[in-house]
Amino acid sequence: MPPAKIAPRDRLIVPLDLPDVASAEAMVARLGDSVTFYKIGYQLAYAGGLPMIGRLAGAGKRVFADLKLHDIGNTVARGVESVAKSGATFLTVHAYPQTMKAAVEGRAGSDLQLLAVTVLTSYDDSDLHAAGYRLGVSDLVEARARQARELGIDGLVCSPQEAAALRGIVGDGMHLVTPGIRPAGASTDDQKRIMTPARAIAAGADYLVVGRPVTGAADPKAAAEAIVAEIAQALGRQPG
Ligand code: C5P
Repeated sequence: MPPAKIAPRDRLIVPLDLPDVASAEAMVARLGDSVTFYKIGYQLAYAGGLPMIGRLAGAGKRVFADLKLHDIGNTVARGVESVAKSGATFLTVHAYPQTMKAAVEGRAGSDLQLLAVTVLTSYDDSDLHAAGYRLGVSDLVEARARQARELGIDGLVCSPQEAAALRGIVGDGMHLVTPGIRPAGASTDDQKRIMTPARAIAAGADYLVVGRPVTGAADPKAAAEAIVAEIAQALGRQPG
């Protein structure tokens, strides 16, 4: 779906960063109709949460499998084939050319969309240097974003601060998915470079991943509704 057509509510992705399936199921029940898109990452996936992808998809929700795959091409392609059958909408892979190429091959014929993680946001230039890289963060992000687009990847996970520059590089054809979002007045937790939902949308983000401000709120449903309303206002649209 072209980014402009995505309903405001469907742009909020809530990560189920919870220790077990029972807590995750309880959170989904509490959030009800306020949230249409969930993210499952390492913590829940490795605690028996992978079958939740199919259950959530069966209940009409969309699921972002944040599994950040990276391995030899054949292993990536076969892994992506399996994820494609799970009902997930988005899957992350690390933005190495061989990995991205294999992932595109593995999802052929399915509706699964691939998101590339360019450079982990916890890395700075000195971390890249220590890992043996010649390029700094911004050059490497830019190079990998171009490669991702050329290889047929559907979107990028990026910090909201990078969104405007990346939009200029990849154009409108790729999704930009941004964590590091905090509504005005919310606790920053351990996020360092944050933006409000409205500013992230204005910077060109298509989807916002917002975790603890929703799942840690006294009233998670009200917190989700407030973020959807802010997204809608930033887009000049109805919440949907
Ligand atoms: O609770 P919070 O809103 O900080 O959660 C953000 C989510 O996005 C977490 O699941 C986290 O792992 C993920 N994420 C992130 N920063 C990145 C990439 C992913 O916070 N650069």
